[in-house]
Amino acid sequence: MKRTLGTCYYPEHWPQDIWAEDAKRMVEAGLSWVRIGEFAWSRIEPSPYQLDWQWLDKAVETLGNAGLKVIMGTPTATPPRWMLDKWPQMLAVDASGAPKKFGSRRNYCFSHQPYRLECQRICALLAKRYGDNPHIQAWQIDNEYSCHDTTLSYSEAALAEFKRWLKNKYDSIEALNNAWGNIFWSMEYNSFAQIQLPNQCVTDPNPSHLLDFKRFSSDQVVTFNRIQAEVLRKHSSAPLIHNYMGRITDFDHYKVGADLDIASWDSYPLGFLEDRSEEGDDWKLHFSQQGDPDFQAFHHDLYRSVGRGRWWIMEQQPGPVNWAPYNPAPLPGMVRLWSWEAFAHGAEAVCYFRWRQVPFAQEQMHTGLYTADNNPAPGLAEASAVAAEIETMPEVSTASAQVALVFDYESDWAWQIQPQGASFNYFKLVFDYYRALRSLGLSIDIIPPDSTSLENYKLVVIPGLMSFNTQLTAAIECFSGSVLAGPRSGSKTANFALNLQPPMPGINNKVSYVESLRPSVELPLKDSGKVFNWIETTTGDDPVIERTACDRPVLIGTDKRQYLTAWADREALIAMLKKLCVAEGIAVQELTEGVRVRETKTHRFVFNYNPQTVQYNGVSLAAAAVHWELL
Ligand code: GAL
Repeated sequence: MKRTLGTCYYPEHWPQDIWAEDAKRMVEAGLSWVRIGEFAWSRIEPSPYQLDWQWLDKAVETLGNAGLKVIMGTPTATPPRWMLDKWPQMLAVDASGAPKKFGSRRNYCFSHQPYRLECQRICALLAKRYGDNPHIQAWQIDNEYSCHDTTLSYSEAALAEFKRWLKNKYDSIEALNNAWGNIFWSMEYNSFAQIQLPNQCVTDPNPSHLLDFKRFSSDQVVTFNRIQAEVLRKHSSAPLIHNYMGRITDFDHYKVGADLDIASWDSYPLGFLEDRSEEGDDWKLHFSQQGDPDFQAFHHDLYRSVGRGRWWIMEQQPGPVNWAPYNPAPLPGMVRLWSWEAFAHGAEAVCYFRWRQVPFAQEQMHTGLYTADNNPAPGLAEASAVAAEIETMPEVSTASAQVALVFDYESDWAWQIQPQGASFNYFKLVFDYYRALRSLGLSIDIIPPDSTSLENYKLVVIPGLMSFNTQLTAAIECFSGSVLAGPRSGSKTANFALNLQPPMPGINNKVSYVESLRPSVELPLKDSGKVFNWIETTTGDDPVIERTACDRPVLIGTDKRQYLTAWADREALIAMLKKLCVAEGIAVQELTEGVRVRETKTHRFVFNYNPQTVQYNGVSLAAAAVHWELL
């Protein structure tokens, strides 16, 4: 498949007489996709039922006639002001009970039924008008679910829907009381009608109550999205996409993805480094103009899985953004590197956000491919260079990796609800394993927790998975490769009670005791590296593979099934994973810091995230270099 480029464009921000010139320049820059419309509800429907299609028709025609393929966004992330007059109860409510206000975006509650109907209505109008328009080659539904912390809502609408959801799940109130353990602190209910949302309690609410509320809230996102997907499919055969985000875990992306054709995500490497990384200052300084060398790749692999093989970058940072604590410019070459890295991980398209910097409102400090006064910004030349390279480059096709890493949204909710130690963070834990695997030069597939077959892989890694469901258990039982799980994997039942059985298939020991450790406590291992943060004690006769220097077992099990009882540092993880890889015949190579490799069916790509030249297998890689070789 030929890879493509695109951009995000807001015709409603600019005078109509420059649209044609913009479109022409997009094509000249080598772009083929243009996303429009996702925040334009107030211009499509300036007042209730008063529709103005003239400008949007013209925008689609102008862009399409220039040779661009249009991605039409549904505008439901930004309800117009009149919507609030019509439906004052549509606002999401925060945990303190305060409703969100108008004046930015994403202020709606996913559970509010009339707002859902309004979204269905505007979606149907768009779908009928543009469903068979040849210029519309894809749809984006809404924009960045959960952005600005908007999945959970404690509104009246959410409460009503939550009660219905619980009734549907448990059927009887006795079953719910048992599942949640409500005998504790006399929390038993007599009826579903008595149940409240788990906010404003005196101290911790019941964790099972909280976990069900998070599951419910995630399901509300799934339903909200599905309503629009169904409407669009009635009138259009173009693929349906949502643009997910970096390190946002508040809803189950696999479930939303199941209703769509393509997963996309919005990649802002420099913003994420400053805003979403726990690494120390030295690391951030070293990578400040390049981004974390594993953060983008992790999400590429995750969203390839969410999109069941089909995924895009819908928004790619082209220069300084406006929203991180510090917003430097990318090192020259990085916009090109990020684009090629996405293609190396299988992206079908990379779209740059945004075409032109807008001189007004919240994002006036956010760069685009063009400056606000309409001159080329530095990102443009790099985007065009990628476009030219795509033309001459042999096709990039993805292959299944040899190593899989399980990522599970529910586990993140579980450990947010009950971290047990202030530093326990599920995303961080999984990301530590991902980084260690990548430091060994490996390509990785991220897979969901209900995977039914692991036979494509030689090694499967499962950190911190709250509980093993029947599918994954069965898949592990007949898997001939190696599995490394833990810490905390399999420690809970699906109802969020302690699992009193062995933590994972193939392990006989039981976890009898867990400890979380202060940040300065580190326990060196006998072999290499150390553990910190978290350590468990298990009982039973499983062989011990690795111990702390003071003889506490940390890695137990057999050659093929291993359970790690503690949070291991990178050195320890690399040592353990390397042994497993060697035993499985997986080739590994410890890479220089900041150098990363990704193999496709046809190519090995090498990326230098460092701001200085480094060597890789006799090849000199300049700062921000992308090197590829045929396999
Ligand atoms: C994304 C969002 C865009 C824009 C961009 C700025 O999160 O989808 O609408 O706000 O960030 O970086």
